[in-house]
Amino acid sequence: MTLYMIGIGLWDEKDISLKGLEAVKKCDKVFLESYTSKLGVPIEDLEKLYGKEIILADRDLVEKRAQEIIEPAKQGAVAFLVIGDVFGATTHTDIFLRAKEAGTKVVVINNASILNAIGIVGLELYKFGKTTSIPFHSENVETPYNVLKENQESGMHTLLLLDIHADDSKYMSIKEALEYLLKIEAKRKEGVFTKDTSCVGVARLGSLSPGIIAGKASDLLKADFGGPLHSLIVPGKLHFVEEDALKAWKA
Ligand SMILES: C[S@@+](CC[C@H](N)C(=O)[O-])C[C@H]1O[C@@H](n2cnc3c(N)ncnc32)[C@H](O)[C@@H]1O
Repeated sequence: MTLYMIGIGLWDEKDISLKGLEAVKKCDKVFLESYTSKLGVPIEDLEKLYGKEIILADRDLVEKRAQEIIEPAKQGAVAFLVIGDVFGATTHTDIFLRAKEAGTKVVVINNASILNAIGIVGLELYKFGKTTSIPFHSENVETPYNVLKENQESGMHTLLLLDIHADDSKYMSIKEALEYLLKIEAKRKEGVFTKDTSCVGVARLGSLSPGIIAGKASDLLKADFGGPLHSLIVPGKLHFVEEDALKAWKA
């Protein structure tokens, strides 16, 4: 009778909220959206804490066969877990609306998302412009460069999310993201992103040992950020407090 849409946070099984955990424990079926993000622990760690078996929901299930999640929620309680927040970055508005249309009660339980965890670097969240994603197959893709350019024109910071191919455990690194932007710069020559551009690379936010380095693109190309997930930030116009904060993360 209820679809619980629950954000489970960014890193491990303990990042779920108490409210989220209580809801999961009530559920007959527990799905985990498994293709847009990645936790730092195996699924078994979640199953152990929740005391429930988890069904992995890939893109096909969520986007084409969502009724397999919504239908059982008409009879009982179903949890749809999302790493980070339910509506962070990739939104799950479609499943929310479809469940409501089907007459199912929907309860949303929020959590931290990459969209606010980046506040750790000291840039004001209010001053971020449009977020963009860099795909693995980027031969003809210039949107991230264009978004960065637009944000720069209005002095905004830019968050660049990096592609994931969960099926083959492929996660784009900060280095690959930098190389992509430099490649487009070499073609467009508009001075939007050069080896001298200030950036902040962030890895494994939400864990107790995140990798965070601020510096020029050329510095970040040489840096070792460790394992996934990675994101890249290109700061816009800096307030002096933001400038000071970034110094704390210099290589
Ligand atoms: C679709 S977004 C994640 C959406 C998720 N629902 C959320 O609210 O955070 C996935 C991308 O965000 C970035 N990301 C997610 N979690 C991260 C983390 N803990 N540390 C660094 N980057 C992360 C990566 O670039 C990754 O490819």
